[in-house]
Amino acid sequence: MVELGALPTVLALFLGLVLAFLVKFFFSRAHTNLPHGKMGWPLLGETLAYLKPHKSDSIGIFLQEHCSRYGKVFKSHLFGHRTIVSCDHELNMFILQNEEKLFQSSYPQALHGILGRNSLILVSGDVHKKLRSLALGMIGGTKSTVNFLPSIESLSISMMESWKGCKEVVFCKEAKRFTFNLMMKQSLSIGPDEAVTAQILEDFHTFMKGFVSLPIYIPGTSYHKAVKARERITSTIKGIIEGRRKENRLQNGDFLDVILSKENLTDEERVSLILDLLLGGHETTATLMALLIYFLAHSPQALQQLREEHLAIRKNKNDGELLSWEDYKQMNFTLNVIYEGLRCGNVVKFVHRKSLEDIRFKEYLIPAGWKVLPVFTAVHHDPCLHENPWDFNPWRWDDQATNKKVSFFGGGQRLCPGADLAKLETAFFLHHLVLNYRWKIKGDNFPLAYPYVEFHKELAIEMEPIHKTLEQKC
Ligand code: HEM
Repeated sequence: MVELGALPTVLALFLGLVLAFLVKFFFSRAHTNLPHGKMGWPLLGETLAYLKPHKSDSIGIFLQEHCSRYGKVFKSHLFGHRTIVSCDHELNMFILQNEEKLFQSSYPQALHGILGRNSLILVSGDVHKKLRSLALGMIGGTKSTVNFLPSIESLSISMMESWKGCKEVVFCKEAKRFTFNLMMKQSLSIGPDEAVTAQILEDFHTFMKGFVSLPIYIPGTSYHKAVKARERITSTIKGIIEGRRKENRLQNGDFLDVILSKENLTDEERVSLILDLLLGGHETTATLMALLIYFLAHSPQALQQLREEHLAIRKNKNDGELLSWEDYKQMNFTLNVIYEGLRCGNVVKFVHRKSLEDIRFKEYLIPAGWKVLPVFTAVHHDPCLHENPWDFNPWRWDDQATNKKVSFFGGGQRLCPGADLAKLETAFFLHHLVLNYRWKIKGDNFPLAYPYVEFHKELAIEMEPIHKTLEQKC
């Protein structure tokens, strides 16, 4: 028998249990279709495990384990937020295509400190539209990329010349110099030998280290150094802008001319756009080139076919004659190789989004305000989409359908504006490389996803010049 005095306690206990039951019932009703998964540690969630470096031509243990336990779409707690991770191609496409409607770009706050609040990748709405259309006008599509041809050719040729007599080359360094010099020339009309070029490149190096550092703004930390490096680059670009204004000359035919001629931009936006082009335009493409050096070194058959394609192009040209847009259109296998390098190597592993409202997709619910991460690497290595996904097989691109099963340049309103340029640069660089050199990777080196791709010691390679035989010169 319950004593009368204990009745209030029993009642309170009973009511508490009913309340707990109701909360659990309604909460789980509202989130019935929340993808499975776990939230990990308080605050940190599963961020450290998610960011654990792995071979960039694999999906890594975290995704492997989570996908096999919870499926291609799962919940987690990453970068300080409740998160839906998507390794499902259809959902990824849905996310990218619904930018600003159901989802919005949402990069970690620490990146705002490094990139600056006007960076194209961080802004949204009308400011994004305005800056993006300017960027597209300068680097997107055939009309713009054709303007890059002479600089790409001369930089490729001088790179090959500079390797003469070298037995070994630290490739990532060389590739970054190549892509950065190109962007400096097109953006600011500044040549590779000018002191300011080396100084900004050095600052970008520091800047990149800050991307994966803890966002602690104390002197000595990588994050602090990166923010300071950005400030230095910004003030250098501001100085160049002021110089142009003083001299009142806008006939360089470079991006800065275009940007200065637009009256609807603030100076902060002008500097930020130049910074975006310099940064976006050099790191990613240099990584792609390094990945191709790596994959081709392990695929003699693909390298042979690539060489044959470029020998055939040379056959129809005079000695020393520069490549043209028509030649580029003949580089079909080269593009297969580039696409396969992007698919296998994964220059950009995933992008950051957030959901703007409760969204239902297939059987899943994505609650409003959650972080959403479309993971491209997982799609690129999905055996349901790609046969033997771990094989470097450029011939898979002969099938047009392969193109619909990848997203290395993102998509929707944020599709990379530099995609065409990156392909063109890489194709011309490959032309000169395969006709002039053979190479071997030094040691047991492979690309690692940090998640941005890096090689041990910046990928040292052994070089051997190809002595042009009669067959090659034709
Ligand atoms: C292999 C080379 C490249 C890869 C793999 C790549 C990849 C990407 C991806 C995945 C995005 C989408 C980011 C998102 O949705 O959040 C992006 C955006 C962007 N990329 Fe690239 N990119 C490459 C080359 C370039 C080049 C050469 C430039 C400039 C010259 C460039 C400039 C940009 C800019 C400015 C954005 C932001 C676009 C926006 O938010 O509207 N990229 N890139």
